[in-house]
Amino acid sequence: MTDQPIKKSIVFSGIQPTGNLTLGNYLGAIKNWVQHQEAFENLFCVVDLHAITLRQNPAELRKRSLEVAAIYLASGINPKESAIFLQSHVPEHTQLSWILTCNSYMGELSRMTQYKTKSQNKEGEAIEAGLFTYPILMAADILLYQTEFVPVGQDQVQHVELTRDLALRFNNAYSPTFTIPKALLPKAGAKIMDLSDPMKKMSKSSDNPNSFIRIMDPPEDIKRKISRSVTDSLGVVAYSPEQPGIMNLLDIMAAISNRAPEELAKEYQHCGYKAFKEACAQTIIDELAPVQQRVNTLLTKERGELEEILAKGAQKAHFMAQKTLRKVYKKVGLIPPLG
Ligand code: TRP
Repeated sequence: MTDQPIKKSIVFSGIQPTGNLTLGNYLGAIKNWVQHQEAFENLFCVVDLHAITLRQNPAELRKRSLEVAAIYLASGINPKESAIFLQSHVPEHTQLSWILTCNSYMGELSRMTQYKTKSQNKEGEAIEAGLFTYPILMAADILLYQTEFVPVGQDQVQHVELTRDLALRFNNAYSPTFTIPKALLPKAGAKIMDLSDPMKKMSKSSDNPNSFIRIMDPPEDIKRKISRSVTDSLGVVAYSPEQPGIMNLLDIMAAISNRAPEELAKEYQHCGYKAFKEACAQTIIDELAPVQQRVNTLLTKERGELEEILAKGAQKAHFMAQKTLRKVYKKVGLIPPLG
């Protein structure tokens, strides 16, 4: 038997460079990616084309795109193992997206919950067509790389299901072309909730800045937001669904320290909410400080290196994407360009 390298499963994930990435993005997504990066072949994309579904301030979008890439790196994604790149640098995403658009139905796109929510109350107003076709671009992101696993939050599962439907439809119509991907949901407890309303997921697009912690928040802000976070009147730290606010803070501490939240609850049981919140804020501050420092260096002194990493990432992604796109071209009757 020859010593063939074992082919790793491909993982694709993306975050939009809109708003500020939160502790929820960090603990619920990026930190998990880092933990599993060696087991898979990874593509971590900054989905800037998705961001322009709604009009963005150009300078802001440029700044945020680099910042998200810097956060990936500062959080521990190793660019030698994983490709980190900007979606708009790999033209195959838009190319495949058009071909998939021609194989998608108005009906299935109209059923997407995110589209329905975002277009609600807009009757008679202009609704951007990109809002409607957005899931097709996401499907192209995933299918281009023969992706097996897509780590996403619950809100994106429907889009991964649509991706599977489009892939199966194409494979049936033209012969097997795409790997059928699966959504990979974070384990329980990795979902970080809104600090003002612990029944809602922490979101970077929330209107209330006290409801989330940004990865780049300075220590004073973190202390203030945690101290003001909504809890309850029971006064005893416990990991119980009756105390969703406290539960959320325990989940945050548990995710950072890799300990069980129940165990942490015991430790802080009798210390009172004020001291517990202070300990929680300090845990977050200590975790984020080195990440923030690294991000700032990458965006200033090491800006050249950051751009170099993105160029290499795009090159690697382009190489993989091209293979799939050429196959797709041939199957539908387009002539792949020479070279
Ligand atoms: N739609 C995702 C979101 O809003 C972002 C995204 C775009 C994505 N393309 C992707 C996520 C591909 C996973 C895989 O969160």
